[in-house]
Amino acid sequence: MTNPVVEAILKRRTIREYKDTPLSREILQTLLDCAMWAPSGRNSQPCHVRVIKDKSLLKELDTDFWNKVGRGTPAYTKCDVNPVYQGAPSLFLIYTPTEDPMNSGLAAENIAIAAEGLGLGSCIIASVGSLLKAEEGEKWKKIIDIPEDFKFQIAVAVGEKAEDPAPKERHPENFRIVEAE
Ligand SMILES: Cc1cc2nc3c(=O)[nH]c(=O)nc-3n(C[C@H](O)[C@H](O)[C@H](O)COP(=O)(O)O)c2cc1C
Repeated sequence: MTNPVVEAILKRRTIREYKDTPLSREILQTLLDCAMWAPSGRNSQPCHVRVIKDKSLLKELDTDFWNKVGRGTPAYTKCDVNPVYQGAPSLFLIYTPTEDPMNSGLAAENIAIAAEGLGLGSCIIASVGSLLKAEEGEKWKKIIDIPEDFKFQIAVAVGEKAEDPAPKERHPENFRIVEAE
C-alpha cells in the first residue's frame, strides 16, 4: 500500500553528495513550516529552528567545528572529504530550551521527509553538536539569533541530490504485528 507520504518515507536515504544549487526561499520556508507543524509533547512547541544558506557561514561553521574537534578526528561519515554540513547548500539547526531529543527529532524528521517529498536530499547531523553544544557554540547562537540558554539538539542538511545511495539494511524482525494466541 502506498501514497506520496509513504513513498517519501520509504524512499528517503541519507544523502552526502549535493549539487551546489541554492534552495529557493519558498522551499526553505516550506521546510521550516513542516518543522513547525511537527507534533510536540503537551503542545510545548519547544523548537527554535534556523536555516543557514550562505556558503560563507556554512564554511565558517565547518572551520569552527574542526578547530573544536581537531583535524584527524574521525568525527562523522565521509569526514575525510566532506565538511560537517556534508556540502549541502542549506543547514537547518534545531534548538530547544532544555535537552529534548524527542521533540527536536520529530521536527528534524519532518524536514527530512518533506525534503524527500519535494525531490530533495537530506542528512540528519548530530556531529556538529560537538561544536554547537560546547562553549564555542555560544558564538553561533548570537549569529543565528537563538536565546542564550537554549540547547542545540540536531541539524538537518538539505539540498539537491548528487548521489543515489543504496538503501541500508533494515531489520524487519524488529517490527512485528502482535497476534493473539
Ligand atoms: C540522530 C542521528 C544523527 C545523525 N548524525 C549524522 C552525522 O552527524 N553525520 C552524518 O553524516 N550522518 C548522520 N546521520 C545519518 C545516519 O548515519 C543515517 O541515517 C544512517 O546511516 C541510516 O541511513 P539512511 O538514513 O540512509 O537510512 C544521523 C542520523 C540520525 C538519525
